[in-house]
Amino acid sequence: MKVAKTISALRTWRKNASTRIFLVPTMGALHAGHAALIRSARKAVGPRGCVVVSLFVNPTQFGPKEDFASYPRPLRRDLAVCRKAGADVVFTPGVGEMYAQDRSITVEESSLSRALCGRSRPGHFQGVCTVVAKLFLAVQPTHAIFGEKDWQQLAILRRMVRDLNFPITIIAHPTIREPDGLAISSRNAYLTPIERSRAPRIHEVLQCAAQKRTPTGIERFARKALSAIPGARLDYVEAVEADTLTPLKSRKRPGRLAAAVFLGKARLIDNIPLLVLT
Ligand code: PAJ
Repeated sequence: MKVAKTISALRTWRKNASTRIFLVPTMGALHAGHAALIRSARKAVGPRGCVVVSLFVNPTQFGPKEDFASYPRPLRRDLAVCRKAGADVVFTPGVGEMYAQDRSITVEESSLSRALCGRSRPGHFQGVCTVVAKLFLAVQPTHAIFGEKDWQQLAILRRMVRDLNFPITIIAHPTIREPDGLAISSRNAYLTPIERSRAPRIHEVLQCAAQKRTPTGIERFARKALSAIPGARLDYVEAVEADTLTPLKSRKRPGRLAAAVFLGKARLIDNIPLLVLT
């Protein structure tokens, strides 16, 4: 497995690389969810293809009061996870490699980014789009894999690829969960044992709510049940159209039920599909 710290090292490798390249963008602190993405890239790319994993804690997607400085950066462990899951190349740029001090160009998606997490995290998706566009240009993959855990991010990046004509196929990977249903996240480490024991309620509530026949019924049930989790503060819970993220009007179209809940220091997000009801 090769480790590239600079874009120029990556370009040198890229000149002789195979034609199929799968990119798995991450911020490191790798867990079972990330490992599943890398393994699935390994499987899908075929024996002669290459799997590239990027490890980069992207400063531009963190708000001023968010956890950029304290975000875990266990590089040696992350490299071991990449190797075991089948990565060929790991790209580990420093902030100075990715961003010029006087940078003045960004990529902004102006519709889907306003919904859901966009309301409480202004500028977040602009940071995500900008860094992912830069990673796409640095690695030049044929495919890129993203987790459904971050549904809004996935929808926005699909839109970016479509609207900017990146010659890249986006692949979605299902959310990997703990045995009790909690979506795996690096930020679960911020939970105290008692908060951790309450966190699986989020997924349980979403699943119960999805049984209701109308989007308003779903939201009403979920809002009440999520607010009732001891110590929880609800940021939002919304039934939206799966690809446009606009409010879901009926169960005749595929939807997504998405929520963000503060539990102690952690802001946990989760989402599940709302299948069409006949
Ligand atoms: P990060 O949070 O490290 O996640 C990297 C990728 O792993 C994302 O595609 C995310 O959706 C996926 N992922 C995280 N937890 C998952 C889980 N439990 N099951 C399945 N997939 C999961 O998302 C980012 O980094 C950044 O915003 C990034 C796209 C790298 C841009 O900086």
